[in-house]
Amino acid sequence: MRVIVIGAGYVGLVAGCCLANSGHRVTGVESDPAKLARLVSGSAPIKEKDIDRLLSDGLASGQLIFSDTLPQPLATDVVMVAVGTPSLTDGATDLSYIQQALAEVSAVVSEPLVLIMKSSVPPGTGRRLAQRYFADKPVTYVANPEFLREGQAVNDWYQTNRIVIGTEDSTPVAAIRELYADIAAPVITTDITSAETIKYAANAFLATKISFVNEIANLCEAVGADIDYVVEGLGLDPRIGKDFLRAGLGYGGSCFPKDTRALNLSALNNGYDFRLLKSTIEVNTKQPIVAVHKLDDMLGGLEGKEIAILGLAFKPETDDVRESPALAIARLLYERDARLRACDPVAIDNARPLLPAGVRLSTDIYEATQGASAVVLVTEWPEFINADWARLREGMADPYIILDGRNALAPERLSGLGFHYSGIGRRPA
Ligand code: UDX
Repeated sequence: MRVIVIGAGYVGLVAGCCLANSGHRVTGVESDPAKLARLVSGSAPIKEKDIDRLLSDGLASGQLIFSDTLPQPLATDVVMVAVGTPSLTDGATDLSYIQQALAEVSAVVSEPLVLIMKSSVPPGTGRRLAQRYFADKPVTYVANPEFLREGQAVNDWYQTNRIVIGTEDSTPVAAIRELYADIAAPVITTDITSAETIKYAANAFLATKISFVNEIANLCEAVGADIDYVVEGLGLDPRIGKDFLRAGLGYGGSCFPKDTRALNLSALNNGYDFRLLKSTIEVNTKQPIVAVHKLDDMLGGLEGKEIAILGLAFKPETDDVRESPALAIARLLYERDARLRACDPVAIDNARPLLPAGVRLSTDIYEATQGASAVVLVTEWPEFINADWARLREGMADPYIILDGRNALAPERLSGLGFHYSGIGRRPA
């Protein structure tokens, strides 16, 4: 099929590369000249497993081309919109990039096509957009959300556990099935608003699971239980499941924080007070504060203390620092006059402009922890877990504190090396 993908960010680029790899003829439209230049030269502007290979294969075969504008005439079967939907300051969704993309399609469309909305928009938005831009055009609007995790997006594209097709009439269903013919997953056909709601409800549920387990971890500390055992016991119940039950410093990234806020606001705007979701957001906002209070207790005050933050990316295997708990922790510690260093294997350049002044940055864990009296593990990078902690301790200063914000390190081993170890909800060794 002929496909135009508008936007070459995480979602658009993965979609474009995977669709080209599946044999479709794809044109990626990217308006940022720097990004476009990289794409055309075969270098992906994002760090994502397998994407460089798929990009160069697509360019080499000619199945994938890029342009800074929509082709004219459009001459396509599908237009897929995958532009950003960032948060506005009040948490509402900024739809301006979507509106711009739809206005451009609407201005030039003449032959029938299916418009697939991949970007996440709050429930109810698609119906209004379809009406506003395509009421008198040969365009069928389809809400077809993605469930891609950063770092595993290509795998998630092919191994997805559902394809959701939200449409007001059944005509585009055959085209979408053809588009995803090589993906074996159940297809759910529904209306536009329900499809949009599936995406937000999925993210809200997973975020709630994380906030729930973080609350249980905090409770474990209050009552003297151990979160590792509690989670093991919980996860073995298939009705609960073991995934997304890792306690820690809370969720970050480009989706959960933004989508939970947007759904909360959209619910309110539609007259519904989604109290559970509000609590999920509140718990997540508080979790870095809980960690800072813990460090304060362990260090007997924070002022002037040398603290190393291990990890800036919002999770391992990505250089994405959007809404990373590391940034919140750095700002909180800075406010309390701690002296900060931070370490990350790949995310330093992205984090630098978002960190408070004076944070010393390094990709080397031994350099970053030299002379520090405490380290806080924020991102569970394998290189941190597998570091030589005996060597690390030699470089550190009294009282050798580790706050393991992801419960990823081995408490007994570290205590044996002379560290004062604390996790999140883990019983003291
Ligand atoms: C998420 C969804 O998983 C994906 O389906 C959606 O399309 C986009 O948002 P992503 O943001 O890439 O994907 O990351 P994910 O792996 O889901 O983790 C999100 C955050 O939750 C990370 O900060 C991670 O550290 C945190 N997390 C995850 C926990 O704190 N505990 C867990 O048990 C799982």
